[in-house]
Amino acid sequence: MDKFEIHGGAPLEGGIAVSGAKNSALPALAACLLTADPVVLDRIPPVRDIHTMEKLLEHAGARVTIEGEQVTVEADAVQNAEAPYDLVKTMRASSLVLGPLVARCGRARVSVPGGCAIGARPINLHVAGLEQLGATVRQEHGYIEAEAPHGLEGAEVHFDRITVTGTEDLMMAAVLARGETVIHNAAREPEVVDLAALLTKMGARIEGAGTSVIRIQGVAKLRGARHAIIADRIETGTFLIAGAITRGDLHVTCCEPDHLRAFIAKLRSAGVEVSEPVPGTLRVRCGPKLRSVDVTTEEHPGFPTDLQAQFMALMTRAEGISIITETIFENRFMHAQELARMGANIRLEGRQAMVAGPMPLSGAQVIASDLRASASLVLAGLAAQGETVIDRVYHIDRGYDRIEAKLARVGARIRRL
Ligand code: EPZ
Repeated sequence: MDKFEIHGGAPLEGGIAVSGAKNSALPALAACLLTADPVVLDRIPPVRDIHTMEKLLEHAGARVTIEGEQVTVEADAVQNAEAPYDLVKTMRASSLVLGPLVARCGRARVSVPGGCAIGARPINLHVAGLEQLGATVRQEHGYIEAEAPHGLEGAEVHFDRITVTGTEDLMMAAVLARGETVIHNAAREPEVVDLAALLTKMGARIEGAGTSVIRIQGVAKLRGARHAIIADRIETGTFLIAGAITRGDLHVTCCEPDHLRAFIAKLRSAGVEVSEPVPGTLRVRCGPKLRSVDVTTEEHPGFPTDLQAQFMALMTRAEGISIITETIFENRFMHAQELARMGANIRLEGRQAMVAGPMPLSGAQVIASDLRASASLVLAGLAAQGETVIDRVYHIDRGYDRIEAKLARVGARIRRL
């Protein structure tokens, strides 16, 4: 099992490039099941979760060709409308094939994704949405069996709560349904907008992506297309904090600042200097004093839950008390006890974490628990005095493309063991 060894204290300087967004590439790959024509996707990050999704598509019968960051999917025949347990257990976002398989094949058999470290994460809202489009869905032997032998019928769907992949799953089902589907309380994430852009290139008729009401006119068939995935806003935010926590001077390139306005505003109120020297580049420097600020995670366009752990690492270095409230997942503070082992002063009460600073962080042996928690530990290691060893870094490989190589190129003393 790979580990990272980090010697903290080096300020990061220079340019660091962001990859394509994992959470946009996953639904985009699933959308390839909706057409028999080839779909060419550019800027697909070669991270573990993407590899798992590619295996899922091949299991369904599609041909997947990978050339660097370009992936071509040819789903001319989908013989096996199934997402098996051994693949779904490694990546819960496999539920993204549910909508496309029902829309394309009239049925789907998807292993129920177990919970994960950060919460129960059921997919009841995905199922309810498909049922409103006319599918019959039952669950047995750990599998969801959805059937729509006569195709799907458009409907008005109201999500009880905002769900990103639920919105994406339903969009991909509705584009081939008969008639109009209106999704109310839809997720507004940039990744939802990116999926709608791809589906539109494939011939779908979608309005309102990026707002909480998405209107879809079903069409009979979709065609192939070529599409470049948006930049990864979470990787961007992670690198901005890396520059700030090491008091460096970092240019984060190939990014989309408009996808991170709430997060950038929080960094600035904490005393971090963030500027946009040229389009697609964010420059980050940290003033002498970091101020503690309160943060509450929200659905987009609010402060992203996927940057909460990383921001907590930064707040351990800030003057005063920072109250971090996690509203999206019920158990997303596991990084706190590992940060405490490095000297952080954090008190947890339900959905809130109180971070008192500034605390000098010292290197320690720590264990990654989930994707973004492990990113938080890397950031703390970069700022800590002495050596940090992070175990189970396969978590971080799920969502970051060779993060240690990218960080080392801008001065971090980090290596993979
Ligand atoms: C997406 O997960 C992202 N993953 C997550 O990123 C991200 O943290 C999350 O959205 C929130 O922004 C991908 O896009 C692949 P949700 P998703 O459905 O869609 C509850 C990362 O680090 N819920 O918006 O699974 C759910 O339990 C990952 O890259 C239901 O109750 O999240 C959660 O509390 C982690 N029933 C809340 O809604 C459902 O049917 C939001 O979940 C669906 C969700």
